[in-house]
This record gives sequence, C-alpha cells and structure tokens, in this order.
Amino acid sequence: MPQAPSLPLIAPSILSADFARLGEEVRVLDAAGADWIHVDVMDGHFVPNLTIGPGVVKALRPHSARPFDVHLMIAPVDRFLGEFAAAGADIITIHAEAGAHTHRSVQAIRGLGRKAGISLNPATPVTVLDYLIDEIDLVLVMSVNPGFGGQGFITSQLRKIEAVRAMIAKSGREIRLEVDGGIDIETARACVAAGADVLVAGTASFRGGPAHYAANIAALRGAG
Ligand code: DX5
Ligand code: ZN
Repeated sequence: MPQAPSLPLIAPSILSADFARLGEEVRVLDAAGADWIHVDVMDGHFVPNLTIGPGVVKALRPHSARPFDVHLMIAPVDRFLGEFAAAGADIITIHAEAGAHTHRSVQAIRGLGRKAGISLNPATPVTVLDYLIDEIDLVLVMSVNPGFGGQGFITSQLRKIEAVRAMIAKSGREIRLEVDGGIDIETARACVAAGADVLVAGTASFRGGPAHYAANIAALRGAG
C-alpha cells in the first residue's frame, strides 16, 4: 500500500525558479521531494505582475507526475479554467476577490474534474468561505499580498489559519489548508501550529541552487 505523504506537504513555487530552465527546475524539484508543484499565474490586472499561462503549464506537465497546484491570480477567471484544466492542472485555486461569482467558478472547476481551491488575500475575512466550504477541496491563505515572491510574512494571517482550520473541522470534509508567502523555517512552524497542512515556498525552496533543493524542502517539512 502506498504510504500517506507526511505533513505538512511542501509545494515549491516555481515563481522563484530559473525561467530559462523551467522544465529542468521542475524535474529537480520532483526528485528533491516536492509534494506539489505550485504554479503562480498572474495577469497584470488582479495583481501587479505577469507570469505564466496555460501553454507553460502544458509544456511543464511531462516533467513531473506530482500534482500541479495552479494558483490563479487573474480576473475575470472563468474563461481560463478549461485551458488550465486541459493543460494539466490538478488543483485550480481562484481568489475569493477575483469575481462576483466564485461559487459558479468553483462549480466549473469541479465540473472539469479538478480539485477546487479558494484563496483569501490578507485583508479578506474567513466569512467568504461560509457558503463555499461544502464545495471546495482547498483553502489557500495568502500570508503576503499576492504578486511577488520574497515578501515578508504577515503575522496576522496566523489567526486566520486558526479560524479556517476550525471551519474545516466543523465541515467534517477533507479540505487542505495551504499557506502562501514568506514561508521560511520559522514561519512554517508557526503556520503548522496554527493548523496549516500545505506550505508554499518560493524563496525558501530555491535558496542556494539545485543542489540544495532537497535539503531546503526537507527542512521546511521538518519544521512543521
Ligand atoms: C505570491 C505567490 C507566491 C510566491 C511565494 O503572489 O502566490 O506563491 O511565489 O514566494 P515566497 O515563498 O518567496 O514568499
Ligand atoms: Zn502562489
């Protein structure tokens, strides 16, 4: 029987990878023990940066069998869901703030046979989950304002992680609680203590270059 993965899961964000060698970077992360590959998609509108589209996700797909955890920081999002699903996204996370009809978007993601996540910006209250919690597979708490890697962790989000963990427990459903932004050994420990079970890490995964990815990932997992 396959062993259950040990928690927290570590999802390196390829935003911090060498974009000229993305396929190889994903292969090295896979071999280094990354649980998921986190892909940050930014549209220059919902967030002040432009990154990756479905074509890149598709090109990366053959490089790893790990779940592709696709974080869509785009609005409006609906017209791109099918393309990201077809490109090979396993988990598709949208922002609660990205549109007026998040419930419909979540239904669309699940209708495509993919796992659906909802992300909350630092200022967004957990109450936006009240009428979504029964429909989703993942909650992504942003511990920085989305748009860039390498920012400092916003500590008020620890309270939010605790609140979301309580909501998940009350729902009785299997929902992952992921945290994204400013994750290092110290903040990883605090997030896991607050109830997180998936940690996104850009800067902390890639520090020191490819020879260090395995140790970086193991250190983050060990901090939990
Ligand atoms: C920020 C992205 C994050 C980012 C994390 O908008 O969603 O995934 O890459 O980078 P670090 O770990 O460097 O804060
Ligand atoms: Zn992200």
